[in-house]
Amino acid sequence: MEKYISVKDFEDAALAALPKTVRDYYKSGATDEYTLAENRRAFQRLRIRPKCLVGIKGCDTSTTILGEKVSMPVGISPTAMQRMAHPDGETATARAAQAERVIYTLSTISTSSIEEVAQAAPNAVKWFQLYIYNDREITKNLVLRAEKAGFKAIALTVDTPLFGLRRADIRNKFTLPKHLTLANFEGHLSNKIHSSGEGSGLSHYVNNLFDPSLTWDEIRWLKSITKLPIIAKGILRGDDAARAARAGCSAVLVSNHGARQLDGVPATIEVLPEIIAAVEQYNVEVYLDGGVTTGTDVYKALALGAKMASILVFVGRPALWGLAVAGQEGVQRMLNIIRKELEYTLQIAGTQTVPEITKDMVRHESTYSR
Ligand code: FNR
Repeated sequence: MEKYISVKDFEDAALAALPKTVRDYYKSGATDEYTLAENRRAFQRLRIRPKCLVGIKGCDTSTTILGEKVSMPVGISPTAMQRMAHPDGETATARAAQAERVIYTLSTISTSSIEEVAQAAPNAVKWFQLYIYNDREITKNLVLRAEKAGFKAIALTVDTPLFGLRRADIRNKFTLPKHLTLANFEGHLSNKIHSSGEGSGLSHYVNNLFDPSLTWDEIRWLKSITKLPIIAKGILRGDDAARAARAGCSAVLVSNHGARQLDGVPATIEVLPEIIAAVEQYNVEVYLDGGVTTGTDVYKALALGAKMASILVFVGRPALWGLAVAGQEGVQRMLNIIRKELEYTLQIAGTQTVPEITKDMVRHESTYSR
């Protein structure tokens, strides 16, 4: 493991090791992948402004999210079908999150079931990512199972009325390998993904079974069936963030789905200030994912979100890369790389704790060239 000293090292090794169809599925963004590149570039356009001689005596990365203490403000975003990366799949990623005391989010379309993940990592802070199926009984059943299995929140994905166009998946006719199943389901809901046709099999699955006609009323429905806090995942506009808050969500996750849904949308870090301003008057937490690969990225997001009492940054693909390289150990190593980079950033920037990271710690590069 010592040879992996950056998330990029894991990415390179994973991309070299994975079969083409899996590699393409994990790494792709929508159509021209302009936003995919922007998710990274937008972080690079922000500059950290360190404070000198402040008397650093160590640092503390811990924070509290939806009432749960976590070891650092970094969590794992839901990514589908993790057993394509490693035979232990989601159970390994959840165990890594448990060992590192960070939040783990399980996808609805996972290759390990809600119950398997709960059993593998009983003490992890686990959230369940929900897609709403046309059949509300199926949807309700998923939520109740997650609640019963000890999951602590429902992250409702709000950015997927249709499945984004990913060209590599269309070319590869991507489907789940035959030896794996969508483990939260039985019968056609589990197997339909294997049926081949033109283009991406996953795209057919999503477009046939997920309900595209969702409105904000769905939050009220969800709240009528569960006591778990609801997070709106996939928000890119201030007015939508305010709608989510008014509809009763406990948090919004600023996300463009890893740039996989619609190309040409902004990088997530670009819209974070708009979202923070829009929900100032509401009691909601704000999180962000998309393009985060270093501790300095995490720091920049924390600075832009500094007004919020609780801000959290999530990683999607980096967990897949760690998982593909070395299962649970690889995910833990990936998390510890980000942790160490964050600890160094905190101290060299002259801030010892997360609340000390104020907005003035970061500036856009354009303010230096005037
Ligand atoms: C995802 N994402 C995702 N989101 C979701 O709500 N449900 C899902 O099942 C999936 N599946 C999924 C698979 C793969 C392979 C990727 C890369 C992404 C989106 C994910 O939760 C997250 O928003 C992004 O991955 C964050 O961007 P980065 O960290 O991958 O750049």
